[in-house]
Amino acid sequence: MANSKKSMHGAWSSRFAFILAATGSAVGLGNIWKFPYIAGENGGGAFVIVYLLCVAAIGIPIMMAEIMLGRRGGQCPINTIKALAKEAGANENWKYLGWMGTLAGFLILSYYSVIAGWSLSYVVKAFTGSFSGESAAQINTLFTELKASQGEQIFWHTFFIVATMSVVARGVEGGIEKAVRFLMPSLFVLLFLLVAYAMTTGYYSEGLAFLFKPDFSELTANSILTAMGHAFFTLSLGMGAIMVYGAYLPKDISIAKTVFWIAGADTVVALLSGMAIFPIVFSNGLEAGAGEGLIFQTLPIAFGNMTGGWLFGVLFFVLLVFAALSSAISLIEPAVTWVIEKFTVTRNQACLAMGGAVWLMGLGTVFSFNSWADVTFFGLTFFGFLDYLTANLMLPIGGFLIAIFAGRVMHDRHTKEELNLKTEKHFEIWTYLVSYVAPAAVFIVFLSVLGIFG
Ligand code: TRP
Repeated sequence: MANSKKSMHGAWSSRFAFILAATGSAVGLGNIWKFPYIAGENGGGAFVIVYLLCVAAIGIPIMMAEIMLGRRGGQCPINTIKALAKEAGANENWKYLGWMGTLAGFLILSYYSVIAGWSLSYVVKAFTGSFSGESAAQINTLFTELKASQGEQIFWHTFFIVATMSVVARGVEGGIEKAVRFLMPSLFVLLFLLVAYAMTTGYYSEGLAFLFKPDFSELTANSILTAMGHAFFTLSLGMGAIMVYGAYLPKDISIAKTVFWIAGADTVVALLSGMAIFPIVFSNGLEAGAGEGLIFQTLPIAFGNMTGGWLFGVLFFVLLVFAALSSAISLIEPAVTWVIEKFTVTRNQACLAMGGAVWLMGLGTVFSFNSWADVTFFGLTFFGFLDYLTANLMLPIGGFLIAIFAGRVMHDRHTKEELNLKTEKHFEIWTYLVSYVAPAAVFIVFLSVLGIFG
């Protein structure tokens, strides 16, 4: 029975270890790099509110569902969904849900690694004092030059993929758990420091107003989709990353409580980075909607002009790289475990194969910033297209199906046993959220993008 199985890939040593790893997966470039720039592009406050609503109403129940599915199935997401569909007597085509998620993780990692590579290159720039005393324009040039250089980007992209695959190769307890243990707390401290700096810019209240004062006339159907997609992206939901981590969760640990910690920490980190970045944007006369370079064009200004900025700059980008690393490992873990289960190869061999493939795919993103800058797919660059396809389409569709699967396909007695919530009432609320609210919300957002509501 699926129920009695322990994962062949290992297990977390404690509840805290699981929370750390899942938070490590959730907190990453999505919070510090992506959230501020998409909030900036989509007009701020109103976008932020939609994002927060999506985290609460869609993200939290689906995260519970994913952990629950993973723990019950105990295998890679593809085989977990297969086994659970069988247990529920459902159609075997549900396995394609596992497939789509595994593919989504692969695609996301291909561009995630390039951005993590930018962060690596900024570690070196910070270390060599490139930011010190520089104007906003000079900082901007640094970034433009990086984007134009294929060699530099490929170098750091390669570095990051090798680092990710070496951690994944060590497996659950050895690699993943150790890596995240001390990183998360340090990241919090540095973010607080940056917010403190933002308070000294004289534009702190403008920054806060941009982030928290909603102007609903700024909201388009597409920005609502982006906000919802980002709720999935930032919580690592919709593709099986949290599912595969759930597979390593011992049976006696309560799922519900862990989820609030993970989602809470993730949200706090995103909001803190917004609070640090927008005051810097406004005090330097920069564009909130500058796009994917936003943090690389703003934070170095802060580091270049504050006391101790050299040290804090180095520390910040190092921590950003580690936050990215602890997320990256969860993006590829579903694919690696699938290769191990399917071809009975070692973890090392599976990592080598997947690492090579992701690396190759990542070159497309590197080129999209220079030699392919004019090549478009549905009006987007290669990077823009991959990002839209994965975050705005694959993750919400995956999440929609995961919710339906957990809420309606699986038998109540199985989900109830696995979730083991405090009261019957809690279980009813959860069932209602995953069976109706979350799927309906995703569906309505899709309809509105298709222009159904005019
Ligand atoms: N959540 C991570 C971030 O915000 C990225 C990430 C890791 C992710 N695993 C994922 C996104 C799985 C979607 C699905 O940076």
